[in-house]
Amino acid sequence: MASTVISQSALFSLPKTCQFRKKKPFSFVSKRAVSCKANSGKENKDESSSSSSSSLGSFDRRDVLLGLGSLYGATNLVADPFALAAPIFAPDLSQCGDANVPLRKSPGTNVSVHCCPPVSTNIIDFKPPRFTKTRTRQPAHLVSPDYVENFKEAIKRMKALDEKDPRSFTQQAKVHCAYCNSAYEQMGFPSQDLQVHNSWLFFPFHRLYLYFFERILGKLIDDPDFALPFWNWDDPDGMTIPDIYVDPLSPLYDAKRNPDHQPPVLVDLDYSSDKNLPRDDQIKANLCVMNSQMVHGTTTTTLFHGKEYRMGYSPDPGAGTIENGVHLSLHKWVGDPSQPLKEDMGNFYSAGYDPLFYAHHANIDRMWNLWKNGLKVPHCDFKDTDWLDSSFLFYDENANLVRARVGDCIDTKTLGYDYQQVELKWLEYECDPTPTTTGKAKNPLPATRNAFPILLDELVRVDVPRTKKSRNVVGEEDAGEQVVILQDIQLDRDSSVKFDVCINVTDDKKSIGPGHSEFVGSFTNIPHGHHHHGSKLNTHLSLPISKALKALQLEDEAKVVVTLVPKEGEGLVTVGNIKIGCIRD
Ligand code: C2O
Repeated sequence: MASTVISQSALFSLPKTCQFRKKKPFSFVSKRAVSCKANSGKENKDESSSSSSSSLGSFDRRDVLLGLGSLYGATNLVADPFALAAPIFAPDLSQCGDANVPLRKSPGTNVSVHCCPPVSTNIIDFKPPRFTKTRTRQPAHLVSPDYVENFKEAIKRMKALDEKDPRSFTQQAKVHCAYCNSAYEQMGFPSQDLQVHNSWLFFPFHRLYLYFFERILGKLIDDPDFALPFWNWDDPDGMTIPDIYVDPLSPLYDAKRNPDHQPPVLVDLDYSSDKNLPRDDQIKANLCVMNSQMVHGTTTTTLFHGKEYRMGYSPDPGAGTIENGVHLSLHKWVGDPSQPLKEDMGNFYSAGYDPLFYAHHANIDRMWNLWKNGLKVPHCDFKDTDWLDSSFLFYDENANLVRARVGDCIDTKTLGYDYQQVELKWLEYECDPTPTTTGKAKNPLPATRNAFPILLDELVRVDVPRTKKSRNVVGEEDAGEQVVILQDIQLDRDSSVKFDVCINVTDDKKSIGPGHSEFVGSFTNIPHGHHHHGSKLNTHLSLPISKALKALQLEDEAKVVVTLVPKEGEGLVTVGNIKIGCIRD
């Protein structure tokens, strides 16, 4: 395993924003609490708290890693048995099992869905071809009639391929199902599912998935420059399902969408149920969500990408702000609530069957590019070799099975594509400030619960203490981001859930949403099954609160009162613990 220690001189040549401080050679979870100022690239919980990244005993993991050592070079493990690191490896397709889709209408029953791709033993390591021309992905609502004809033809041909062809539309849709509904187990860890959501694998997996999908379409119409469109739902003009997807006679159409959300109905980027806001208000609300998630919600690499997920870790360590935010809101908003499992977009196993999925994810992928270079400050991806070396398998345009690494896809230019630049109306759009009277937030409504785990059967408030250390750093330059960490959120995997998180609410009657200073974010789940982890999902969420602490003048308070507001709930939802900590990376 390559060490990630870098020399001092190398440090100085990095742009300031991309500097990363001294890192341990192996970056397996450190049990030590470190000060907010000593960057480990990880969350610092201030109070020591048990790490729940991995539910496996370290020694089990060590045994397996030692066993895999000769294969992957993870042999230098003697000095520190905890210092083990390994990326998530591409699955063994011959071990693919049926994906597991829980049927919530009849609890306890699962339907098995066969999502496995054809098996091939000939695996090629991905090398992006040399592209002479950059393919430009355009907003779906702005494409030309010629473009639409080509695109429709490409999807039509993909749908016409033999179902067994790995490039067929059905097989492409199944790629998502297999990676998301646990058809695969982790290499070396048969008791752990392989999952590409709710962790740092989210952006790279979907980027590569779309890349191959796009290359196959291009090949089918003999146009190597073909680029997918993106659903520009962050722009007021793109806030409906794009017209090209709604003609029932078009190959771009999918019948399993919410009939109440057809154009001209505007998307709701904070969706839990229909709010029926007047048009202008919905646009403002959406721009506010975009601004708060992209500008204020993704200030660190972990907040953007999600939590670390290494070989042997339990799946779903925790999603980043965009994945858990606008990404899931739109899945829910598009899926048909009258279908048993909210198909197609409302469930991971079926989402890839809607051609709109790929336009939605192109826009999500565009957010990655914007986050890195398109905002007021540039951001940096992880430098962690476990992230860079994680890999997946896809069939390419020639039906070859290809192993692609995260490190292969961090720059879209090397993959030969880019996004058309469009104005970012949300970039400067601060949510309408709805300030609480100055100083009032210091006297919030009192806690309603005082013991964990908390059952979210109604609105609950809990006191969360802050350490002195954590208080001192707010406002300090380079202080990192203060976060509220919801640990061990447990719920049924097959349930649609959403709850909001607010701090120091002073008024019970007021409904608080993304525009308010007290609002710090939401937790969302859409159904997805797993083989090995029963019907329960166990995950974590970190929400940035520095801005809210400032706006509410709570920088020096020794505690905050965290309010959890259920918005949509099926089944029991519990939260194991709530802490305040700090992230810098
Ligand atoms: Cu793999 Cu939008 O999900």
